[in-house]
Amino acid sequence: MRSLVILPSLLLLGALAQHDWTYTEGPRDETHWHEEYPTCGGDRQSPIDLQRRKVQYNPALKALNLTGYDVRGGDFSMINNGHTVQISLPPTMRMTTTEGTEYVALQMHFHWGGASLEISGSEHTIDGFRYVAEIHVVHYNSKYGSYDVAKDAPDGLAVLAALIEVKDNAENTYYSNFISHLKNVRYSGQSTVLSGLDVQDMLPQNLRDYYSYWGSLTTPPCTENVHWFLLADTVQLSKAQIWKLENSLLDDHNKTIRNVYRRAQPLNDRVVEANFVYHSNYQHALGSELRFYLRKIDGKLDELMSFIEKRAKRRGWYH
Ligand SMILES: *[C@@H]1O[C@H](CO)[C@@H](O)[C@H](O)[C@H]1NC(C)=O
Ligand SMILES: *[C@@H]1O[C@H](CO)[C@@H](O)[C@H](O)[C@H]1NC(C)=O
Repeated sequence: MRSLVILPSLLLLGALAQHDWTYTEGPRDETHWHEEYPTCGGDRQSPIDLQRRKVQYNPALKALNLTGYDVRGGDFSMINNGHTVQISLPPTMRMTTTEGTEYVALQMHFHWGGASLEISGSEHTIDGFRYVAEIHVVHYNSKYGSYDVAKDAPDGLAVLAALIEVKDNAENTYYSNFISHLKNVRYSGQSTVLSGLDVQDMLPQNLRDYYSYWGSLTTPPCTENVHWFLLADTVQLSKAQIWKLENSLLDDHNKTIRNVYRRAQPLNDRVVEANFVYHSNYQHALGSELRFYLRKIDGKLDELMSFIEKRAKRRGWYH
């Protein structure tokens, strides 16, 4: 067991004051978040239910460029913040989108269920189906230089998310180190150190295909400045690993942290895009692809026309 730090009680009190919202039913549960945090009642909230038939295939979206994700060495601090377990990430981990926006990693954390047997706890759902758990890798836009500045900027944040499934008895060894450290952060405010972490290995194998939309933080203050990237492929953990995630941590009242997910929020007029084709949508997808290439050709035709006109003028064919 490595170093185990209990925060001074003053700090802990500060943390308590900040974390006065809950997932469990009561006067501070998610139906009341907007009373203290008005943005939580906004119309671009997360998570959402992804309805695959309504997702728009966008062939212009390329794979995310993830750099520094496969770091192995180094110490990573891991904390029980009373709502989840959170691992601090080094700023050398970066994610660049198709448009060229570069995001710097800050932390990753999990959402899970487990309040009674077989209760799932992912935040995003696919066609109404809730997965067992969800991992969020939180980033800020590098142009703001720090999370503190970026967290209030309209294009400040991006989250790379993945859904977790149970695969009966196959232990996912990329999670063994993380899961064995959960017991070191049993109490809210406790932290420990993970030596060595490969976030890339903790993500799904296929890092290319994703859904993307604009939404919010899924916890107060629910700021609506998050570019979401939900990977289409999933992570598989064994039943025993999921059980440890669902049963190891206690909140500020020494109650087991369970069912830490927010319900799906209305999509409203937003569009979810994907950079891959969902098979039932293939006709629609072919149409999108055709339009995409026609637009490209159209642009090229204009270029070609003006090129020919210039030549013709130079040759004096017309004035
Ligand atoms: C990915 O980003 C890194 C660092 O910004 C850059 O050096 C590399 O060329 C990029 N790779 C691709 C395929 O765009
Ligand atoms: C939680 O349990 C620990 C260890 O038994 C104890 O020190 C702490 O005071 C408890 N906290 C609450 C809020 O009951």
